[in-house]
Amino acid sequence: MPRVSLALPFALLGACGAFDGALPRAGRSAASRVARAPARMATIERPAMVELPNLDGALPDCPRTEWNSDGMDIAAEQQKLKAMGLPACPLEIVATPQENAQGAAYFTENAERLRALLREHGTLWLKGFDLTKDEAGFHRFYDSIGLSPCLDPIHTSGLRAFASARDAVYQEVNKQSLAGHYIGLHNEATTKKTARFGAFVCFKPASVRGGEFFIADGAAIFRDMRTDVLKRLYERKVRISVSNLDLDVLGALGPLKEGAMDAVKGLVQQVVAPKFDMDLEMLYGADGKAMRLQAIEEVQSPVNRHPETGIPVWFCNVHNHARYLRDRRPCTVPEVGMTDVYLGDLSPVAAEDLDHINEVSHRNIATCAMAPGDVLLVDNYRVLHGRDIFEGERYHAVSWFDGWKSDVSSVVGDGGKPGNALNKLINSLIK
Ligand SMILES: [Fe+2]
Repeated sequence: MPRVSLALPFALLGACGAFDGALPRAGRSAASRVARAPARMATIERPAMVELPNLDGALPDCPRTEWNSDGMDIAAEQQKLKAMGLPACPLEIVATPQENAQGAAYFTENAERLRALLREHGTLWLKGFDLTKDEAGFHRFYDSIGLSPCLDPIHTSGLRAFASARDAVYQEVNKQSLAGHYIGLHNEATTKKTARFGAFVCFKPASVRGGEFFIADGAAIFRDMRTDVLKRLYERKVRISVSNLDLDVLGALGPLKEGAMDAVKGLVQQVVAPKFDMDLEMLYGADGKAMRLQAIEEVQSPVNRHPETGIPVWFCNVHNHARYLRDRRPCTVPEVGMTDVYLGDLSPVAAEDLDHINEVSHRNIATCAMAPGDVLLVDNYRVLHGRDIFEGERYHAVSWFDGWKSDVSSVVGDGGKPGNALNKLINSLIK
């Protein structure tokens, strides 16, 4: 079958499931031990800071996904994780008045320590820092800690607008039209591209209710899944469908139907494909509906080894994308934006396996009710994220990173040219 590079605009809409009252909400609260940087004296006069560069149009593309999943002994790896224990995720770091008075200097001076903590815990929840209460200060924060910003891995899908392009800060999914969609656990990743780190910031919590951000440690999900289920998925692998086009109307063409189906498929490949950037295969009938054309990602492993620590992690967006789970949540996503997850040979994932994935996912979710200025600094290979439905106005944002500025040589090559014009166009159409 032909392969095309294509991401339909609703691919990320498909990433937004809706809340299911029957499913458990984000499980335990994110109570973790609190870490503090060494106490420092307040700085009365801060040194003049270099002006930050305007990053509008200057961001590198998201790096390619680093896959390393061959040859895993699933049962043995689970035992190792159980034996070693996993540290708190997230680790809460609360600013003292003295640290806050330091402003950006706190992050410059503690960069190495915070980097080590992030590597160990997978997520740092930075609380009470005044610097990160607006876009420019947030930019100063990540620059001071030494992170190198990049584009969102699905930038060309167009769902996410920049909140501040000059600061490389994207809107989270704050749009009113998507407020009622529960976004399940996922890494910000496709088979092709993955951001190395993400920093999620709250500028304004939902004004009425809800909208809590949540995370889950992919190593803990790997550890806690039933070995037979994890082994089955690991051996058979998965494929993710990101969009549906229902073309039943072509059935009225009688003997011309098959030619018309091929023509539509060709049209999608030739006209739409050059504008997008995911490795997708266009297939009819994968879910049993003969006239449904689906855009399906390549075969991928549901687990991966962390690129830095080598720890095995659950690295799969099935909790968010599986239609079986989304159908059990209120969902207003149009059919064109519906996603699904298959096994590698395009056979369905068993309902009981999906129920188990759902249960283990919720058991490991840490809900983070963020206050203005709070930042969740996330290792995107280690930790999955999502957010609850909300009412009212909400302004959360996110920046993505291809690595640390000091490790530029370790950053994997980019996945292609970004498509900013398309991103702006699509966001002008989705209110
Ligand atoms: Fe996301």
